Amino acid sequence: MEEFHKVRRLPPYVFEQVNRLKADARAKGIDIIDLGMGNPDLPTPQAIVDKLVDTVRDPRTHRYSSSRGIPGLRRAQANYYARRFGVKLNPDTQVVATLGSKEGFANMAQAITAPGDVVICPNPTYPIHAFGFIMSGGVIRSIQAEPDASFIPALERAVKHSIPKPIALILNYPSNPTAHVATLDFYKDVVDFAKKNDLILLSDLAYAEIFFDDTPPPSILQVPGAIDVAVEFTSMSKTFSMPGWRMGFAVGNERLISALTRVKSYLDYGAFTPIQVAASAALNGDGSDIEEVRSIYRKRRDVMVESFGRAGFNVPPPAATMFAWAPIPEQYRAMGSLEFSKLLIEHADVAVAPGIGFGEHGDDYVRLALVENEHRIRQAARNIKRFLQASAEGRFDNVIPLSARR
Ligand SMILES: Cc1ncc(COP(=O)(O)O)c(C=O)c1O
Repeated sequence: MEEFHKVRRLPPYVFEQVNRLKADARAKGIDIIDLGMGNPDLPTPQAIVDKLVDTVRDPRTHRYSSSRGIPGLRRAQANYYARRFGVKLNPDTQVVATLGSKEGFANMAQAITAPGDVVICPNPTYPIHAFGFIMSGGVIRSIQAEPDASFIPALERAVKHSIPKPIALILNYPSNPTAHVATLDFYKDVVDFAKKNDLILLSDLAYAEIFFDDTPPPSILQVPGAIDVAVEFTSMSKTFSMPGWRMGFAVGNERLISALTRVKSYLDYGAFTPIQVAASAALNGDGSDIEEVRSIYRKRRDVMVESFGRAGFNVPPPAATMFAWAPIPEQYRAMGSLEFSKLLIEHADVAVAPGIGFGEHGDDYVRLALVENEHRIRQAARNIKRFLQASAEGRFDNVIPLSARR
């Protein structure tokens, strides 16, 4: 039977193949150290949980909530932008709450895309950036993920050579998976280009608060006039260790926010009110929870870079996000990231995310998530060291020889 039109455009998640191997190994009682999925392992701070529990006792909170977010939540998000970025937002017209930023992003794509519209999207990138538009009937034109001097010339080429002319550009800094961080000057150039070329800018700032340098990542809305063309998505998932709560935001250009709000009003009744109340309390907090989360990820990053490096697997230190984007050791690169990831499960009891899952230009890399504690990260490094030694000595028969091409 032929697949449905939309389903045919959604390839099976590459990560499923690694997940299956991981599940098989665990079913056999093997302790797999899971650096694969970016699923935060830290508990939500107690005060946020307490706020949820208090609120849920009031039966008035059990009714349908507000699809665009209760007013106090939208105000809390506007205040966060004012505090953190110095960006003034109208909570009634420039802020909408979403069921996680992924939902917000996908429904924004649905709201603004006509069949065949071209959207410029980084490669490699978090899959919803491309597939949100593909599901909405759009067409993707890839661009490099690096926010460096070659980005604007690449953007110029992408606009010049795409027919029809692209409607939007997706930005994601700090980036999942590459951990690249953009500067405000970079955003200025992009906003300038977008205004001249009539491009919508969709900025995914899910890792706004997970950074390790002294300079916090900027918001694109800090660029004067960016609000004329840009919308930005943020998430409670990583900042407050609330991934299962499904709470995020879109903020920025009124026309775009209004389009997303309209689509969502047909689709959902908003998050459960106690979740929205607890999320407001989190955003109105003093920031100490965020500082703690940041310092845990920073320590894990340092342990990973150091211990993996000593094991013979060079991991460049990420400046932000909860991921390291590591080139596959040279002697295995030709086999591609999926095969290499499978080898690590089978021979090192370590799960990683194959770079190909984020786009073809990610295939020389694997993504390592900082979602295991320091002790287990060190254990992963020891396992990998053993694997590298054993395979160098030719003790595995399923390691594809160097000469094998992808
Ligand atoms: C770049 C990026 N955007 C969005 C999301 C989804 O976040 P949320 O839980 O808010 O839907 C993730 C989650 O991993 C992410 O890495």
